[in-house]
Amino acid sequence: MTHQFDRNIMTTLAGLNLALSYENAAVERLEKRLSESFDSEVKEKLSRHLAQTREQQDRLKERINALGGEPITEKGGLPIPEPPRSLKILIERGSTPSQKEVWESLNDLIMERAEAIMYDGGIQALELLKADKKTIKTLEKNMKEEEGFANWLQKNNPRIAKRLMKKQLEDKREKENKKKEKTEEAAATTTATTTTTTTTTS
Ligand SMILES: [Fe+2]
Repeated sequence: MTHQFDRNIMTTLAGLNLALSYENAAVERLEKRLSESFDSEVKEKLSRHLAQTREQQDRLKERINALGGEPITEKGGLPIPEPPRSLKILIERGSTPSQKEVWESLNDLIMERAEAIMYDGGIQALELLKADKKTIKTLEKNMKEEEGFANWLQKNNPRIAKRLMKKQLEDKREKENKKKEKTEEAAATTTATTTTTTTTTS
């Protein structure tokens, strides 16, 4: 009986450390996203979820310690789709900052949904392992936060994408107008110089 109990605790600890390894990776990705994003609304949400993710790490560590384990410091691989090399180069080199932002927001959504799915599976596993209520509640709380952010992203990504694409178009028009003004100015200066030179020489 004791043997079975120990095995269940070991499996529970492995599962908790697996979740922690994904949260460790999520912190790194969120920090990177936060440093690259230029949309204030997205940045605000990313920063809030980064704080939540750090709390999730702490909650997991607390349960791992309580069960006599050692919290992992390694990072797991995040479930973000990896395009084939040829297309990846095309996407990375050929995209504007706005397009990149839209692309990464979609990856944010995929990641948050995947995290919620992993917690859901983890909760089911812990119930089968007859884990303590406190540990199960911890996973439920983390899952709720992942779902909350995933739902926000799914709902708001299309609106933000529209705004970013509109801004990109406006920036492009402004750039073209400035270029046109400069060309016209240069042409006017050339005409004035030519007229002056012709008048002086004749
Ligand atoms: Fe998350």
